[in-house]
Amino acid sequence: MKYKIITYGCQMNEHDSEKIAGMLEGMGFRPAAEDNEADVIVFNTCLVRENAELKVHGKVGSYKPLKEENPDLILAVGGCMMQQQEIADEFYRKHSHVDIVFGTHNLAELPVLIQQVKSGQNRIMEVWEGDRGLVPDVPTRRKNDYQAWLTVIQGCENYCSYCIVPHVRGQERSRPPEDILKEAENLAREGFIELTLLGQNVNSYGQDLEENINFPTLLDKISSVSGIKRIRFMTSHPRDFSRELIAVCAAKDNICPHFHLPVQAGSTSVLRDMNRGYTREEYLKLVEGIRQKIPETAITTDIIVGFPGETEQEFEETISLVKKVRFDMAFTFTYSPREGTPAAGREDSVPRQEKSRRLQRLMKVQNNISQEINQELIGSQQKVLIEGESKKDPDYYSGRTATNKLVIVPACPAKTGKIVPVKITEAGSWTLYGEITGNCQS
Ligand code: 5AD
Ligand code: SF4
Repeated sequence: MKYKIITYGCQMNEHDSEKIAGMLEGMGFRPAAEDNEADVIVFNTCLVRENAELKVHGKVGSYKPLKEENPDLILAVGGCMMQQQEIADEFYRKHSHVDIVFGTHNLAELPVLIQQVKSGQNRIMEVWEGDRGLVPDVPTRRKNDYQAWLTVIQGCENYCSYCIVPHVRGQERSRPPEDILKEAENLAREGFIELTLLGQNVNSYGQDLEENINFPTLLDKISSVSGIKRIRFMTSHPRDFSRELIAVCAAKDNICPHFHLPVQAGSTSVLRDMNRGYTREEYLKLVEGIRQKIPETAITTDIIVGFPGETEQEFEETISLVKKVRFDMAFTFTYSPREGTPAAGREDSVPRQEKSRRLQRLMKVQNNISQEINQELIGSQQKVLIEGESKKDPDYYSGRTATNKLVIVPACPAKTGKIVPVKITEAGSWTLYGEITGNCQS
């Protein structure tokens, strides 16, 4: 029996897919190389922007012929999109070839639902409300044996006015610190060297717990687990990125000098309308504070253009912030109204064409900056964790610097999962190229 999982969206979803894989393997399933070998196909969906949703409709629809050819094939659709009741209802009606619809909160129930369908029950739609506490821990099949994601907090209560996530992933629920530390220790014992701590806002960690613990304290404890060479975390809300957190990151060698700090907009008025809880000046000060204490830090961000009411001048403030901060990289998006969010109640005032013009301009400015920053690294020596064959060419391998920059090196299979010194020889906006210095046989 074989399975396939198709994942959309963020790292949280990628990690949920690892849990789905772990549960399926626990049931005796093995990964399928091709679609037509699979007995179960699971789609793990996202609805953060309209595009993400449209992609899922198209992809799931394209599996109809395969299901008709092989009626025993089980198609299951879960993830954020299915957690939204009205969207799930419509989806279930529209895609009658789908056997199971489940949500993010009842992910752990998937094996039971699959069993029910296998034993002859008709289609099932089972989505729980988000008020049943933590989604329980389940077995996890990790993407490799040296890097692991570790959930520290589920849910989100930031209520940024454009964002559907809090309406889907529910209230903030921190995992007990003992559970997180035990998982980190087990992973270290199994040989994992890089941990990425996950949460929609990791900086809220602990606020809902009775014990007196916050994210910096937790991070400090995890970074002391022996054998863990790199620790990353995401996502951080700039509003809650404290001095205490900066101090812990500065003090610990194994906390990577890379912070993903979504700014979303460069003008204080737009930030206020977005309900972000900080001003342009506060954000700039935060970046300065980080760079002062942790030199050579990479800072990346997310930016939305064309938020309702965003004027040309306000957009220019985003451009000027980007130039001032000089982000290493930015993920840029055009605003997409999401039903049920406060911003969707406002007129989507920036025309589509204007949104895409702003996006193009922003990307151009940012790409130049990324390119300039990366070029300065030519000739330097970087410590790179080699992750295996590059996506484009098997003669090359890819890896990441501590600052999370992608580095391409000539193929070196013996180094996969190891941190090696690399001399940088070439640089683009998104990628560095280099050569492993020293012997590649060990
Ligand atoms: N429209 C466009 N981008 C959005 N994001 C979240 N919601 C929306 C939306 N409605 C972006 C934000 C967030 C990233 C994950 O997706 O920039 O940080
Ligand atoms: Fe991740 Fe948000 Fe998409 Fe859900 S909706 S998968 S939380 S990006």
